[in-house]
Amino acid sequence: MALERTLAIIKPDAVERGLTGPIVQILEEAGFTIVTLKKVCLTKAQAQSFYDVHRERPFFDSLTSYISSGPSVALVLERDGAIEELRQLMGATDPAQAAPGTIRARWGESIERNAIHGSDGPETAPVEVAFFFSDLERMGRLG
Ligand code: RTP
Ligand code: MG
Repeated sequence: MALERTLAIIKPDAVERGLTGPIVQILEEAGFTIVTLKKVCLTKAQAQSFYDVHRERPFFDSLTSYISSGPSVALVLERDGAIEELRQLMGATDPAQAAPGTIRARWGESIERNAIHGSDGPETAPVEVAFFFSDLERMGRLG
């Protein structure tokens, strides 16, 4: 497996319930290095831009209202196979379908309020990292 970087977001439902610490602990125990992280409060327009791929989906307005409803924590994570490893650790989009022990199975409240975001592939990860973090913030050579 190649060393990769991916973007994670601890979503507003999890931040609001005080789950930032427990989720960061799970990420570190799973071997991810935190390259950088910050707490952000996205505007509706920023959420619409971030989730532009879903613009035509019926849940787009609800999703972007929720993501902009309060603070989230954005992280750049690094490890071998980071992109797929994070998706495995997150579990399925719908917490009811997520494998036991995954972050969404443990803490997701609904298919929308599902605690965490992770980039879904090698094309999107560097774009998503750059959405949140400047060159200076994303230290090192990987996206
Ligand atoms: P994410 O992008 O946040 O990591 O989640 P994902 O890949 O597992 O799921 P995706 O299909 O990209 O959907 C993005 C987010 O939209 C919300 N969603 N709501 N109401 C619904 O049917 C529905 N479907 C998706 C979730 O917050 C999902 O994570
Ligand atoms: Mg997605």
